[in-house]
Amino acid sequence: MLPKKIILSFLLLHLASSIFAQQSQGLDKHLSIIPKPLSLKETSGNFIIGKKTKIYVDGNNNSLKKIGEMLSAQLKLETGYDVSVNEVPVKMMKNAIILTQNDASDTLGTEGYKLSVSPQKVIIKSLHPAGVFYGMQTLFQLFPVKSETQIKGRFIIPGVAIIDKPRFGWRGLMLDVGRYFYSVDFIKKYIDYLAMHKMNTFHWHLTEDHGWRIEIKKYPKLTQIGAWREATQYDRATSQIDQNPHGGYYTQDQIREVVAYASDRFVNIVPEIEMPGHTLAALVAYPELSCTGGPFKMPLFWNIQKDVYCAGNEQTFEFLENVLTEVAALFPSPIIHIGGDECPKDRWKSCPKCQARMKAEGLKDEHELQSYFIRRIEKFLLTKNKRIIGWDEILEGGLAPNATVMSWRGIQGGIAAAKQHHDVVMTPSDYAYFDYYQGDPYQEPVAFGGLLTLEKVYSYEPVPSELNAKEALFIKGVQANIWSEFIHSAEKVEYMSFPRAAALAEVGWTDPKLKNWEDFKRRMGMQYKRYENAGINYSKTAMNVTYTAVKNNTDGTAIITLKTNSYQPEIRYTIDATEPTESSPIYYNPFTIKLPGTIKSAVFEKGVKLSKVSITSVLR
Ligand code: ACM
Ligand code: ZN
Repeated sequence: MLPKKIILSFLLLHLASSIFAQQSQGLDKHLSIIPKPLSLKETSGNFIIGKKTKIYVDGNNNSLKKIGEMLSAQLKLETGYDVSVNEVPVKMMKNAIILTQNDASDTLGTEGYKLSVSPQKVIIKSLHPAGVFYGMQTLFQLFPVKSETQIKGRFIIPGVAIIDKPRFGWRGLMLDVGRYFYSVDFIKKYIDYLAMHKMNTFHWHLTEDHGWRIEIKKYPKLTQIGAWREATQYDRATSQIDQNPHGGYYTQDQIREVVAYASDRFVNIVPEIEMPGHTLAALVAYPELSCTGGPFKMPLFWNIQKDVYCAGNEQTFEFLENVLTEVAALFPSPIIHIGGDECPKDRWKSCPKCQARMKAEGLKDEHELQSYFIRRIEKFLLTKNKRIIGWDEILEGGLAPNATVMSWRGIQGGIAAAKQHHDVVMTPSDYAYFDYYQGDPYQEPVAFGGLLTLEKVYSYEPVPSELNAKEALFIKGVQANIWSEFIHSAEKVEYMSFPRAAALAEVGWTDPKLKNWEDFKRRMGMQYKRYENAGINYSKTAMNVTYTAVKNNTDGTAIITLKTNSYQPEIRYTIDATEPTESSPIYYNPFTIKLPGTIKSAVFEKGVKLSKVSITSVLR
């Protein structure tokens, strides 16, 4: 038995540390909301979820009721309690989580919200259900991580008063399901991930040279033939020709199911039907829509295809109008993506029908023929109450009158479009192509060429300085694109998307004056835990140590500087080529080594290695 004195001092110590833990719970440094809200104040006291906690929503408000059910389901998952959803009049009792559209501020717009947490109640208030939904996402981020709840045995939400609204109305991610197909279940999960980042647009790249992924009732061969390829793509990830046939498509019923799922999460799905290029899969199924008449085979490699829709053939337009009629009926989105990128003009130049069209319409070159093509499609879609958006090549040969431009080849397309007073979504490849490497290619799974680190995504400012204040209003938002040439699994989609999507989310949501990389890095510590809780296969690459070496050629030494973008700054390193461990020296300041030398380092947290081991050898 322990002496009484020791037990007592142990108890006191324990008490003191739990009081400290309680107090520190309220400190800002423990709050890690991503994207960062417009205004966040800590208030005294906590809200504790217990057996008697109830959710209340405005009466006769089905949208709020649905959101309440989602909150209830999440609370059940996290606490085990059944927290019921009730419709009530305004006067509130204790121990309540209130979701309401009453007395909301109209300065916060449809997606803004107020969230207050006090010991008596939690209130989320917005003009619109979307704002209430985003308030709920913030509330989720105030939840303790599971391990903390288990230790304290109580589910505590710290007192706060948050006022928040997004900077941009278009905050999106694009997924290319053409190169590789992903299941309906995964697409739904991906929509959940968008929602948790307060993103509101899922750009679904449904057609490609390598696969047509959406059922079109009038043209069954599109998916019977165009959704499948034989053993084809050279897979750089495994350095092999993939011997398995690949394919798949979404039925219209599945599309409706996904659209409804997204709509419940305030995510608009923008379908993309590519034209006039990136269309070989459709031409394999219907070769009569091409300039040469085919026949064609599904492509074996990832290069851009020269065979595209014939712009001189009326059948092409009849086909596309029929396809778009079905697409327009499936997707409530007011805007449809018509592609428009990377359309080689080779076939049009030698096609008598295309040349005859140019002559008849007085078009001076093939760029104007592409512009004719897109304008004609725009005109048709306007009859269905749909506007078009296209990649920035749609500027070439003249922009269709109501088109929105997605600027991807840098920012010039976005600048040009905004100066013509057209809406713009910024997705410049240097900052927004999540198929690029996120770290040293030697330590990464195969990716597309460029390098796009978490820090670089975070640094992006979507409004180009070339625009004046009025033109800047045409920049409607930002989006990252996940092209899937080298992304053959859902797990890898997650790896490429996260955590970079968190940085993009903050670019799209947060007032730029409030952005701060160091603070973002700190908040990411919690975000990584959220990813783990959600089972997301996120990348830890940003935590890896990077090196700079400044050589002194006269004495054969080098000054080595180590850097990590981990929330946890504890780097441990070796200079004797052994693996760094939790007892290797901690890096504080640049140090000098004798050349040649090898440094190995990694980031640790409480003795656990968080990052990969980074190795650099510096020669004399
Ligand atoms: C694109 O990356 N071809 C839009
Ligand atoms: Zn033609």
